[in-house]
Amino acid sequence: MLEVLNLRKTYRSRGKVVEAVKGISFSAKLGEVFTILGPNGAGKSTTIKSILGLVLPDSGSIHVNGINIMKNRKKALRYMSAVLEGNRNVHWKLSVKENMIYFGGMRGLGGKRLRSRMEEVANLLGISDKMDQLAGKLSRGYQQRLAIAIALLPDTPVILLDEPTLGLDVESSVEIRKVIRELAKVGKLVLLSTHDMKLVENVADRVMVINKGRVITLKKPSELKAMFKSRSYKIVFDGSVSEALREKLSDFGKFVEDGGEITLVVNLKSADEIYDLFDILRSEKPTISSIESEELDFEEIFMKIVRGDEE
Ligand SMILES: Nc1ncnc2c1ncn2[C@@H]1O[C@H](COP(=O)(O)OP(=O)(O)OP(=O)(O)O)[C@@H](O)[C@H]1O
Ligand SMILES: [Mg+2]
Repeated sequence: MLEVLNLRKTYRSRGKVVEAVKGISFSAKLGEVFTILGPNGAGKSTTIKSILGLVLPDSGSIHVNGINIMKNRKKALRYMSAVLEGNRNVHWKLSVKENMIYFGGMRGLGGKRLRSRMEEVANLLGISDKMDQLAGKLSRGYQQRLAIAIALLPDTPVILLDEPTLGLDVESSVEIRKVIRELAKVGKLVLLSTHDMKLVENVADRVMVINKGRVITLKKPSELKAMFKSRSYKIVFDGSVSEALREKLSDFGKFVEDGGEITLVVNLKSADEIYDLFDILRSEKPTISSIESEELDFEEIFMKIVRGDEE
């Protein structure tokens, strides 16, 4: 449904040159939640804006349902709807209902069709009882729900959400996660950007980690977890550990001493390094009381990926 090939974008403003995206490629299909994960300035928003034709890339191509967004933007946009960061598709001085009528109208909706879509999306986002409230008076969480509801009105197969849970209360975040899963279940492609690990863990079918404009890895969340699990161990020593051994193992991780117990927290750069580690241990033969593989949460995995611990 969506194909991005070798996307590059350089911004030039006031003499400064910023290479925001340096060759990103991926494709995503209907029925999946495709997540772009990356730290500040990684190029997430630039990628999303390029897909929507709001930013003109230097090179590369983007196709939505086979339509080239750069050559045929108007036609391609019929398949997409988006909520961008900050710039929300909401008018503060209109009520929830008026916002839906106004923005629905801009997407060519009216009459019965608009009314039934309004009811559907309001129910989905849990805002049916807020229809007459002013958008500007809603909490941030409800404003974001409204922004998403508006984006869903035209019922497009592709939905792009830039940081949909940024700065939201827990309840709204949970609600939005549910809605995203629901959308994928009914066959839509949801492409979102985030640095919210909970969102990745709970809704993503695939995660593309980007940093400094480049793709670092593109995998299923479970694969990412497994990959890092096979590389993180905790070795607990029984008794003392010689200086010589500490020296030899210093590249593998760091020693932690806690109440007489000495632990080495190992972070292997590749799964194969485990053999080198065992060779060193064999040469000094310290007494080991346990070796466990460490359970990492997504936050730790993300930090490792971004720091470049991966391949
Ligand atoms: N209009 C612009 N003019 C100049 N530089 C820009 C512009 N928009 C983005 N940049 C720069 O491009 C890089 C990528 O920005 P982008 O907004 O795509 O990152 P992001 O991953 O969305 O970050 P964040 O998590 O902060 O939203 C950054 O270094 C940013 O400062
Ligand atoms: Mg951004």
